Amino acid sequence: MLIDLIVGARPNFVKVAPLIRELGAHSAEGGKMRYRLVHTGQHYDSRMSGDFFDQLDIPEPDINLQVGSGTQAQQTAAIMVRYEGLLLEKSSDLCVVVGDVNSTMACAITAKKLGIRVAHIEAGIRSGDITMPEEVNRIVTDSITDLFFTTTENSTKYLKRSGISEDKIYFVGNTMIDTLLFQLDNLIEPDFVAENNLSVGKFLVTTLHRPANVDETVGFMRLVQMIAKCARSYPIVFPVHPRTRRAIQQVGELPSNIIFVEPQPYLQFVWLIKNSMAVITDSGGITEETTVLGIPCITLRDNTERPETIEIGTNVLAGANPTSLKEIMAPLFDDSWKKGSIPPKWDGKTAKRIVSTLNDLFG
Ligand code: UD1
Repeated sequence: MLIDLIVGARPNFVKVAPLIRELGAHSAEGGKMRYRLVHTGQHYDSRMSGDFFDQLDIPEPDINLQVGSGTQAQQTAAIMVRYEGLLLEKSSDLCVVVGDVNSTMACAITAKKLGIRVAHIEAGIRSGDITMPEEVNRIVTDSITDLFFTTTENSTKYLKRSGISEDKIYFVGNTMIDTLLFQLDNLIEPDFVAENNLSVGKFLVTTLHRPANVDETVGFMRLVQMIAKCARSYPIVFPVHPRTRRAIQQVGELPSNIIFVEPQPYLQFVWLIKNSMAVITDSGGITEETTVLGIPCITLRDNTERPETIEIGTNVLAGANPTSLKEIMAPLFDDSWKKGSIPPKWDGKTAKRIVSTLNDLFG
């Protein structure tokens, strides 16, 4: 039984690390399932990819398809052509994809068309916003998935309602949280924290990388200025995604309380959010991590595919054009932000459940 584990972009690495550990334990105990780690190369430089492999103890990929950047279609097409080439040379028995990036959808389609079963980890989440490339990736991937591993009760119910038979759906929890809990004792304080005299609990962290927020310079500048103003005089650490760098280079003067830094390796980034006062972001995955860490989070989007982070966790949806950001942020300054709790099965044991399910089915 050969399983292809597909990774392509930064959040994928965090999600597969615990699976690799569990599959390793499975074969050390005499289990029959083997895996092949396939990196599409969607993210390729050390800050977006290599550092994550090192810190999360992910072995070198068995195959790197090296597709690099491109438009949505170029990237998707390149992944499909190269992954098909690999499968035609040496096929596998199951293609495991995670999350919602282009690599997820491209490899799912390619495998399925060659008669290979597809398992999707983080299946069934929906933002309802079809203008996001990730939403298209989620819908297409789930439409051809054979085994659905879900992170939440909502996504499990959604899949059942949409007609997927119950015996294909496994509510297992969140592998991203497996990694978070596993690494909590290993976090690393970034050097710039001391260099900038940042005190624990007295700075904010911001990340922005969605095309809707960063591809248009004027709107991006307005957003950044608003965040800086609403943070009062608190410093804001802003790790800059490569996509966002372009916008930053084009805007004029930047607010002085924002500290722009390179994309952070995982252990440094989690140190930052864990020790921050709050996080302001347009990411989905980060809202899950802040929920588990109990750190206030403000999401600069009009919707989310992760409603539990709002209903159960510490997240608040402020909108993509947040006219009331000042009011939304007010509870941060008198320590009255909602406390939140942790969604069911976000307990660090999700990868164990997945490998045990795969073993029951195929082992
Ligand atoms: C992708 C995912 C998104 C995920 C994000 C995490 C899709 C549709 N989007 O968006 O869901 O939240 O990754 O980061 O799959 N670049 C580099 N170095 C790298 C990788 C990318 O400089 O290692 C540059 C590319 O050249 C490109 C830009 O960053 O100009 C965007 O990369 P891309 O992979 O197209 O999408 P992301 O915005 O990262």
